[in-house]
Formats: sequence, structure tokens, C-alpha cells
Amino acid sequence: MTEQQRCPVVHFDHNSVEHAEDPVGAYRSLRAGAKRGWTDASGGYWVLSDYESVFEAARDDDAFSSARTNHGGEGLSVVIPKTPMKLHIPIELDPPDFRKYRKIVNRITAPAAVEKMRGMVERHTTAFIDSVIEAGECDLTSVIGVPSIVTIDWLGLPIEEWQRYSHAHHAVLAEPQGSPAYEQATKVDLPYLFDQQWETIRARRAAPRDDIISYLVQQEVDGRPMTDDEVFGIVDLLVSGGVGTTASLVSQALVWLAEHTDVRQRLIDDPSLMDRAVEEFLRFFSPTQALARTVMKDVDFHGCPMKAGDRVLLAWSSANRDESLFDNPDEIDIERWPNRHTAFGVGVHRCAGSHLGRLMSRTLISQVLQRMPDYTVDFAALKRYPRQGVNMGFVSIPARFTPGKRLLRGS
Ligand code: HEM
Repeated sequence: MTEQQRCPVVHFDHNSVEHAEDPVGAYRSLRAGAKRGWTDASGGYWVLSDYESVFEAARDDDAFSSARTNHGGEGLSVVIPKTPMKLHIPIELDPPDFRKYRKIVNRITAPAAVEKMRGMVERHTTAFIDSVIEAGECDLTSVIGVPSIVTIDWLGLPIEEWQRYSHAHHAVLAEPQGSPAYEQATKVDLPYLFDQQWETIRARRAAPRDDIISYLVQQEVDGRPMTDDEVFGIVDLLVSGGVGTTASLVSQALVWLAEHTDVRQRLIDDPSLMDRAVEEFLRFFSPTQALARTVMKDVDFHGCPMKAGDRVLLAWSSANRDESLFDNPDEIDIERWPNRHTAFGVGVHRCAGSHLGRLMSRTLISQVLQRMPDYTVDFAALKRYPRQGVNMGFVSIPARFTPGKRLLRGS
């Protein structure tokens, strides 16, 4: 094979309308061809589509950096094109600096810490379902606001603003750049929410409470307290990580279960199947479709002549459908095991919020199945995100079900 065949120029743009219409098909064609290639979209970048390449690049921080550089524009380094944003910590740092901050985040996202959040997650989920259960119909995306409210509550941000956080963070990743929704998010809502995050950080420094921002302002790196900028970088990343991804996973799983009522019934009859089912939904739907790195030194990567400064897209979603690792990758098998999916990423930056994401997903899907076991979705009225390159999901999921009773007083 010549170099050109191994790494051809491919017709690929993960932010295009064409891609949004069939992301799975677009990645399938890449995997069936050269697996890795160069696209001229968004100023040019390499795209890696097979499990082996994605896994290898994600574990090689020396060659494939997550840090901010001025290659490929300004802004968040792990997306293509970069979006304007304050430095996100630790996702935009490479080792060794990365480790100091990741240690701080790990303490609040480890399994034991997340277990303490179970009551709060269950309560918010019950309250959201209470708010629609008597009506017998709802837009399921409203129920899926749970991850947003849990994250906001956990951090200590004003809980009544959860919807604004949720809309702004979805819009910035899912609406076309320049569209009214994107402009509203980037020019109005996000600046307002950033101010609110700054104010909360300052307020907690002056008078700590029992919340995550209070914890963060009291942490040290290199023997000195973290600055407000550093705390902001972590808080804003936790908001972006917590708000969109789990909602995307749960919404796609619920739509799929409405179509596959036999599987839904199995999960209702045997809730012990839920843990593996959620892993399989993670693999199959890959809520975070693909993230980026910057090449730090000239390398020959599986025959691709990569140059320092080149941008590279690691397609987690495509690795998750790689037939060399997964049998029948285009089918959902809720008992699939082992399931070495890449939905939470690979390597040092592997999702810090995975335990929380799993807890919220299992709780949400379980409660919906218990309380709305016969829900149906109006598939003709389903509306997907206009862009599906970074986060997959739905703007609207109209659903009907047999009405039920509220469970919480005053909700
Ligand atoms: C289904 C839910 C979720 C999915 C699919 C997901 C996906 C991912 C992926 C693919 C990465 C790797 C980033 C990279 O390699 O550049 C990541 C990192 C991260 N995620 Fe998640 N995430 C989820 C839930 C959450 C939640 C609930 C939180 C926080 C509350 C969170 C916080 C983070 C953070 C802080 C990082 C950066 C870790 C680091 O750089 O060390 N995620 N996530």
C-alpha cells in the first residue's frame, strides 16, 4: 500500500449537516477504507476511526497533546473547530501538570464520593418525573434535565438556573455556529452564567459552604491555594461534562427502548440487567462522539505523515463500532460482556465523571421504566440536534404514557 492509500484525503466533516444525517454511516465508510485519513474541513485535520488508532493516540500524550496551542485557532483544544472558552482544567493540560489537578477532581468523583450523591440523584429524578406523570404526556427531554440540575446542585451554583445551563451547553455543541440559538448561547447565556460562576467562586472563598465549589477553593497545587482562574477552569469543565453527556445517553436509550419494547420489558422484569445495559448504551450511542488532540512532533502514525501542529480527531464512537473488537457492533446486546468501549475516552483523560454519569443514567432509565412502563414516542415528531459531531442527542422527544401519581410531596 502506498502512503496515499493508507492515509488518503477523505470526504469527511463531523460538523456538517451531511454527517449529522448519518454519523454511523460516515464512520463505517472510513473504517471500511483507510481507517485514518486527512480531511480539509475546518482548516484540515486527521481523523482516526478504528479502535486500534484511537486507543493508541489517546494513550500517547507526548505525541498527541490535549494542551492549548495556537494551532487550529483559539479556544477549547479538544474540539474541532475550537470554541471560545476559558481554559478547562484538567482536560486541557498534559502530564505532569495535569496530574496535580486530576487528583483534586478524583476525590470528588471517585465511587465512594458518588455513592453519597445517590439520594440527591434519586430525589431530583423523582421530582422531574412527578412534574409530568399526571399529564400522561411530556417531552422526554424535560425529564432528562436531571443531569443538569444534579450537577448545578452538587457544585453549589444557583439551582433555579439549571435550565439555562442546560440550554447553553447543548447549544454550543449542537447548534450550527452562527445560528440564532448558537449566538444566544455564546453571546448572552454563557457570559451571564460565567459571571455567576465567578461570583459563586468569590462568595465561597469568603464563606465556604458544603458544596464542591467550596471544596475546590480550599485546595492547593504546588503548595499554594488554587487561584480563582484555576477553580473556574475546573468548575466550567464539570458543568460542560455533567450537563450534556448523560442527557444525550439517556435520551437516545429511551428512544431506542420505545422502539424495542421486548428489551424494555426485560429490563423492567429484571432490573439486575441495567448495569450492563447502560455500558452497552454507552458503547452504541457514544454520547461524546469524538474529541481532538494536537500533534506535538512529526510522527509516522500507521503510515500517516503527521506534522507537529496538525490537529487530530479521535472518534470514540467509531472505535466503539469497530468489528475487529466487537461482535455485531451495530446491534445492541444489553448483556454484552466484556465491553471495552471507549465512550468515556481512553488514557489519562478518561472521564472523571464516569461514576456519576453511570449513576445518573441508571437512575433515570430505571425510574422512567418503573413509572412510565408503557411510554410511546411520536417518532415522526422527534427532533435531533442539528449538529451531531461532538454530542449526539435530541432537541425534542414527544412521548405519551398511562398517567400515574406523584411520589414527592409538594413537587
Ligand atoms: C454518559 C456520560 C459521560 C460521557 C459519555 C463522558 C465522556 C467523556 C469523555 C469521552 C472524556 C475524555 C476526554 C478526552 O479524552 O479528551 C471525558 C472527560 C471528562 N469528563 Fe466525562 N463524560 C460523561 C459524564 C461526565 C460527568 C457526569 C462529568 C462531571 C460531573 C464528567 C466530567 C468529565 C471531566 C472532568 C473530564 C476530563 C477528565 C480529564 O481531563 O482528566 N463527565 N468525558
